[in-house]
Amino acid sequence: MSLRRQLILDEFAARFGGRPSACVRAPGRVDLMGSHTDYNLGYVMTMTLDRDTWLALRPRADRVVSIQSLNLSGCSDFSLDDITHCEIAPWTEYARGMAWAMQEAGYVLAGFDGLVHSTIPFGSGLSSSAAVEMAVGLAFQIASGIRISPVELALLGQRAENKFVGLNCGILDQYSSALGEAGSALLLDCRDLTHTPAPIADGVAVVVCDTRAPRHLVGSEYDDRHAQCDEGVRLLSAAYPHVRALRDVTVEMLKSCEDALPPVVAKRCRFIVEEDDRVLALAPALTAGDRALLRDLYAASYAGARDLYEIGAPAMEAMMAAMLHAPGAIGARQAGAGFGGCMVALVEADAMEAFAKDVEARYAAATGIEPFVYPVRPSAGAGPVEL
Ligand code: GLA
Repeated sequence: MSLRRQLILDEFAARFGGRPSACVRAPGRVDLMGSHTDYNLGYVMTMTLDRDTWLALRPRADRVVSIQSLNLSGCSDFSLDDITHCEIAPWTEYARGMAWAMQEAGYVLAGFDGLVHSTIPFGSGLSSSAAVEMAVGLAFQIASGIRISPVELALLGQRAENKFVGLNCGILDQYSSALGEAGSALLLDCRDLTHTPAPIADGVAVVVCDTRAPRHLVGSEYDDRHAQCDEGVRLLSAAYPHVRALRDVTVEMLKSCEDALPPVVAKRCRFIVEEDDRVLALAPALTAGDRALLRDLYAASYAGARDLYEIGAPAMEAMMAAMLHAPGAIGARQAGAGFGGCMVALVEADAMEAFAKDVEARYAAATGIEPFVYPVRPSAGAGPVEL
């Protein structure tokens, strides 16, 4: 038995007594292209990680959810009859939010004892919170004897974030965690809520480069970007009535109206419209392993994120320089919401170790911060685990 299984079984017995009756898992994700395109109903190239959250559970006879984490302290039981917010164990907000969203959608839930263990670094932009939401959503289905499609589960998770946790995010994180596919990136259409697998060429490795710099203002800056895009849609739809989201806008349409937009709004729209095109161009390049195109698409994505969408940070600039100088680098860009956190590089697989060493040394010398650099491989989306 793996160490992780043993740890979870032992700790479950110590905390709740006896054995869990089931266990589920949900992975984190990294976006390979498509920053902030999800809430503009555009495209994202996303990929699950081989890092995930496990949740061992056993249904309870009452309507109480008692959930604990092996990574974070703070236990806070909550009643399904009165789901309140929780300041002493903020990570349980994602479980509470999920319960709230599922009940609001009309599902009749039963309580459970649950123990969480995660290998996804927290707060660095790899969707550790969406993984908790998807795992909790699966746990409620088992405990309550109900079935929900993965797409609906992802939507419920997004609703939990938007309406309970208070982050106005798009569908990317929850969709990736619920519907990811082992061995492949996904080209996600955020309007249709469908995806096509986008296999990555042999010899190309995906490497997460965590700046480990604190992420400032992610919440408020994120909401500002969202509002600026909405403003762009409102103004552009005056000239083009069919425009419902920036997804519907082409570079030509934007050029024809750019002067009528406030400069900040024009910059934000430009980034999103171009980033959507880059996602579509990335799919064949990723599968063919077209190094030159991958490098150019990644360089343009980073430049746009920094100069047009303005989600950069000094630590990201230092990391970008380190990644591009390292042996085996094919392309490098931001990941997640930006403002620090993780970045992502495409690297020649046979140069992976040299790449990681070089990035670590160069970034630490420039910033005084030890980064966290590691390869990731796409794992299956959320589902059961045999204990
Ligand atoms: C965060 C949000 C996602 C998405 C990304 C940026 O991860 O939760 O919905 O908007 O930022 O692409």
